[in-house]
Amino acid sequence: MKIFDSIVDIRSFIKAAKVEGLSIGFVPTMGALHEGHLALVRESKGNTDITVVSIFVNPTQFGPNEDYEKYQRNLEQDSQLCDVEGVDVVFAPAVTEMYPAKDSVVVKESALSKNLCGRTRPGHFSGVLTVVAKLFNIIDPDMAFFGQKDAQQVRIIEQMIRDLNFDIELKVVPTVREYDGLALSSRNSYLTAEQRVWAPRIYEGMQKVLSLYKAGEKDVSILRQALEAVLTGNDVEVDYIEFVDWKSFESVDTVNDGTLLAVAVRVGDTRLIDNIMFPSLSFS
Ligand code: PAF
Repeated sequence: MKIFDSIVDIRSFIKAAKVEGLSIGFVPTMGALHEGHLALVRESKGNTDITVVSIFVNPTQFGPNEDYEKYQRNLEQDSQLCDVEGVDVVFAPAVTEMYPAKDSVVVKESALSKNLCGRTRPGHFSGVLTVVAKLFNIIDPDMAFFGQKDAQQVRIIEQMIRDLNFDIELKVVPTVREYDGLALSSRNSYLTAEQRVWAPRIYEGMQKVLSLYKAGEKDVSILRQALEAVLTGNDVEVDYIEFVDWKSFESVDTVNDGTLLAVAVRVGDTRLIDNIMFPSLSFS
């Protein structure tokens, strides 16, 4: 496995691979790798010849009071995990390599990012889109792999690929969960033992909503109440519970097979997100 920290070096590696006719799969990450990331890697390995994983904690997608400083960084451990999974290339640039100066050109999305995390984390999606566009231009992948857990991110990146004519196939991989339903996230490691016991309630609550829906309940206000009743606890604050149309990310009053339920909850200082798709809907 090769590890690059220089844009020039990874570009020449990719160019040589392309001359040989090899396809490139790209898994963008911020490190602190877990089984959710490894599921993306396995998908990439199954679909492309060369798998590139980027490990970069992107400062521009964190707000001033967010966890940029405390975000886990352990390149050695992450590289070992990648090596074991058969990753071909890790790209782990320094902040100065990606942002030698403050960018004066950035990518902004103006419709899909108005709600949910776009509303409660101003500037977040512009930071994500800008770094993903930079990484796409550096790595020039044929396919890029993202997790369904970050549903809004996936939808906005899908739109960027379309609107800016990136010649990249987006592949969305289902959320990987702990045995008790908690969605895997690097941020789960911030939870105290007590908070960790509480956290699966997010998935339990969403499952309750899903079973009410399957039993015929489609009214969002009733379904929301059912979820709110589960998402209570010590030091727990619901950031949002949103029922949106998967394509437009506009709120809906009635759930149907094109609806996404997305939830963000603060448990102590830790912000957890999760989502479920209503039946017969697929991301692609
Ligand atoms: O999902 C993430 O880990 C990040 O938002 C991403 C896509 C790697 C961009 O920094």
